[in-house]
Amino acid sequence: MKNILTIFGGSGNLAYLKLYPALFNLDQLNQLPDNFRIIATARSKRSTEEFRSEVEKRLKLIESDPIVLERFLDRISYISLSFSDLDDYSELKKKIETLDEEYSIENNRIFYLATSPDFFSVITKNLSDQNMINQAKGNQKIVIEKPFGTDYESAKNLNDHLLEYIHEDDIYRIDHYLGKDMIANILYLRFSNPIFSGVWNKDYIDNVQIVASEDIGIENRGRYYDDSGALRDMVQNHLLQILGTVAMEMPNDFDTHCVQKEKIEIFKCLRTYNCEEVSKHIALGQYKENTDENLKGYHDEKGIKEGSLTETFAALEIFIDHPTWQGVPFYLKTGKRLDKKAVYVTIEFKKDKKAEHMINKTFQSNILQIKIQPEEGINVKFNLKKPRVEDEISSVEMDFCKSCLIDYLAPDAYEKILSGLFKNEKLLFTTWEELKHTWHFTDPIAKPCHNRKKDLLSFYPAGTKGPKSSDELLEKSGRHWWPY
Ligand code: BG6
Repeated sequence: MKNILTIFGGSGNLAYLKLYPALFNLDQLNQLPDNFRIIATARSKRSTEEFRSEVEKRLKLIESDPIVLERFLDRISYISLSFSDLDDYSELKKKIETLDEEYSIENNRIFYLATSPDFFSVITKNLSDQNMINQAKGNQKIVIEKPFGTDYESAKNLNDHLLEYIHEDDIYRIDHYLGKDMIANILYLRFSNPIFSGVWNKDYIDNVQIVASEDIGIENRGRYYDDSGALRDMVQNHLLQILGTVAMEMPNDFDTHCVQKEKIEIFKCLRTYNCEEVSKHIALGQYKENTDENLKGYHDEKGIKEGSLTETFAALEIFIDHPTWQGVPFYLKTGKRLDKKAVYVTIEFKKDKKAEHMINKTFQSNILQIKIQPEEGINVKFNLKKPRVEDEISSVEMDFCKSCLIDYLAPDAYEKILSGLFKNEKLLFTTWEELKHTWHFTDPIAKPCHNRKKDLLSFYPAGTKGPKSSDELLEKSGRHWWPY
């Protein structure tokens, strides 16, 4: 755990909003040893003292123990660095060496690239040129934030570039959804409960719905988002990672290698669509102004190109060409400026036609809902006979709200990711093999169909449920989105 964590992009949004609060919480839980130091680097000139008070202002917003706060701030040093200036890296190197000696850190180094992806290559090259990282496996780590590429080709170039300078085992590729407790729990729910594992296949499951709905807009990330859109920003990574976890076969072991291997098998079987097929299986949307709610439209956000057709909403019907899942649609939905913030997985089971026939009544489907955020828990809907009347069946539910339990303190995803990083828990990170296949799936949808986007894109008022075309995607087969 003793380490020097250097954060590139140390004064960026991600660092302020996620990394320092997560590190601070770990410190409050006494999970950071004394010889854990942080070096924040960014372009602007400021002293360590000035930088610490910036971080302090933000951390004061969370409930904190003043003694731990002081201890935490004392861990931080600030270095002004231009990503492309090799001389600045030699200053960084000197600083690392001084801290290393002072705190007996024994060369344990982590370089966290929380910058725009444009800088990933130059930073790793300069780190290597200054001998701060090398090919030999060791106590050095590079952490790469999302997005890992903008398509398969750029992702492969980035990956090849990284491998020139550092060993695969020392690369940590972030998908923070893997740090969400209920996503990790899907494996335990599935494989430690025969009531679920026995029916987890095409014979019993009618369809699966994976939804990540956001009420926020694109905030101040217009420049990045306009080139990305919902397919690259959320589907290629977070939503497909959830799909992989829901659909994978039982691994031989719960270790990183076995779990990732099974997930990759699923990614390999994702059916891809050509441009003709896309409109049948995909609905895209973009939010427009909602004057009643006083919410601006996508085009009025900062950094958006005139006439931009970037999708802020995507709904997909996906098939997995794997014997376990033949014919079972997986529906994915995500969007900005929807009516609420919620991440859910819904499993709709097939109805027992024979029983319906015998009782001569139509039943509701059994539903299993895995609530990932903001509430965390499980909800199961099943059928029972009404009291005092024969043959009257109604749907009842059992709800387990994990996040409602007294004293339940959900660890933030970044807290879990960082703590996993310090302990080399690679299951919390994605591999190149996974990314390769998820890009192979996403590319044909996001790319050549660009010139058709106009036809695919519907507009929805900000703050609502998204475009109607997303409902129609399910209605054509008599299905609907389950409420969340
Ligand atoms: C990020 C996306 O990866 O995930 C953002 O770039 C999105 O656009 C965010 O808002 C959602 O994360 P969470 O944890 O708030 O669901």
